[in-house]
Amino acid sequence: MKIVVIGGSGLIGKKVVTNLRQHGHEVVPASPSSGVNTVTGEGLAQSLAGAQVVVDVANAPSWEDNAVLAFFETSGRNLLAAEVAAGVGHHVALSVVGTDRLLASGYFRAKMAQENLIKASPIPYTIVRATQFFEFVGGIAQAATEGQTVRLPPVLMQPIMSDDVAAVVAEAALAEPLNGTVELAGPEPIRQDELVRQFLKATGDARTVIADPKALYYGIAVNDQSLTPGDHPRLTPTRFADWLSRNAFVALIFSTMLLSSGCQKKTSATDPTFQSTPGSTKPLEAADLVGYDGKRLRKSVDHIKEANEKHNQDIEKMAGSGPDQ
Ligand SMILES: NC(=O)c1ccc[n+]([C@@H]2O[C@H](COP(=O)([O-])OP(=O)(O)OC[C@H]3O[C@@H](n4cnc5c(N)ncnc54)[C@H](OP(=O)(O)O)[C@@H]3O)[C@@H](O)[C@H]2O)c1
Repeated sequence: MKIVVIGGSGLIGKKVVTNLRQHGHEVVPASPSSGVNTVTGEGLAQSLAGAQVVVDVANAPSWEDNAVLAFFETSGRNLLAAEVAAGVGHHVALSVVGTDRLLASGYFRAKMAQENLIKASPIPYTIVRATQFFEFVGGIAQAATEGQTVRLPPVLMQPIMSDDVAAVVAEAALAEPLNGTVELAGPEPIRQDELVRQFLKATGDARTVIADPKALYYGIAVNDQSLTPGDHPRLTPTRFADWLSRNAFVALIFSTMLLSSGCQKKTSATDPTFQSTPGSTKPLEAADLVGYDGKRLRKSVDHIKEANEKHNQDIEKMAGSGPDQ
C-alpha cells in the first residue's frame, strides 16, 4: 500500500515512516525539505498519485496566532482537496488532547480549524489526539523561565513518549478509518511543576521550579482537566522516569545548549537564529522557543549524537590499531 506522510521529516513523522516501512509498505515522506509543500501546493499532486492513505503530522514553522492559523487552514484545505483528486481512502491526522478546551490559545484554535476541515471533508478519517510529548518538557520549562525561576501552574498532565505516539499513528494508518477521534496519553498523571522539576534535576539544570496556581501555560489559564484525557484514553507504556534515565545525557545537552545559546527572552530579539519568522525583528515569544526546541534544537542534538558516535568509533579504531599487548 502507498502511504504518504506529510511532515515525514519531523519528530513524529520520521518514526511513523520507519514504522510503516517495517510493515512492508511503500512510504513517501513529504515535506518542504523533500519538495512537497502543503501551503503552496508544490509537489503535492505528484506525491499523492496512487496513495491509499495520507498521514498528516506536519507542524507550523511559526506559532504566532495569525501565522499558525493560516498554516493549518491553508495546509488542511490544499491537502484534503489534493486527496479528493487523488482518490485517497483514509486521512490520519495527529492533534492534541484538550484542543477544544484550550481555544484561548492561537495554536489550539489553529489545531481546531485543522480538525474541523478534516471532519467536513468527504475523505474517511482518523484523528489521533495525543498529550504533550516527553521531548516537549524542556520547552515548557524554557517558556516559563524568568531568570533562574520557572513558574508553572501545578496542573495535571499525562505526557507521552514520541515513539509510542508514532506507533499508534502508524497503526491507525493501517486500520480502517474510524471517522472519529482517539485519545492517547502516557501511563501516569503528573503535576506540571513536578514534571519539569524532574526534567531539570535529571539534566543538571539549576533553575528553581515554583508552583503557582495563577501561572499561565503558554499564555492561557489551565486547570486539571485542560491537558489530561477524557474517560477512556488509550494508554501507552513508556514512563517518563524511564525515558529520562535513558535520555539524561541528550537532555543535558539540550538544556546546556538552550542556556549557553542565550535562548532567553531578554537576549534573543536581535539574533536571527531565534527569530520566529526569518527576517523578523519581533522579540522571541514563548511559543517560538518551543518551536525552536521542537525542531531546530533537535537537529543540533542529532548532530551532537552523530559527532559523539563518530568520536567513539575513532577511539575504538585507535584502540584496535594500537600495538599488541
Ligand atoms: N509537541 C507536542 O507535545 C504535541 C502533542 C500532541 C500533538 N502534537 C502534534 O504533533 C504534530 C507533529 O509534531 P512534531 O513535533 O513531530 O513536528 P516537527 O518535528 O516540528 O516537524 C514538523 C514537520 O512539518 C513539516 N512541515 C512544515 N511546513 C510544512 C509545509 N508547508 N508542508 C508540509 N510539511 C511541512 C516539516 O517539514 P521540513 O522538515 O521539511 O521543514 C516537518 O517535517 C503536530 O501537528 C502537533 O500539533 C504535538
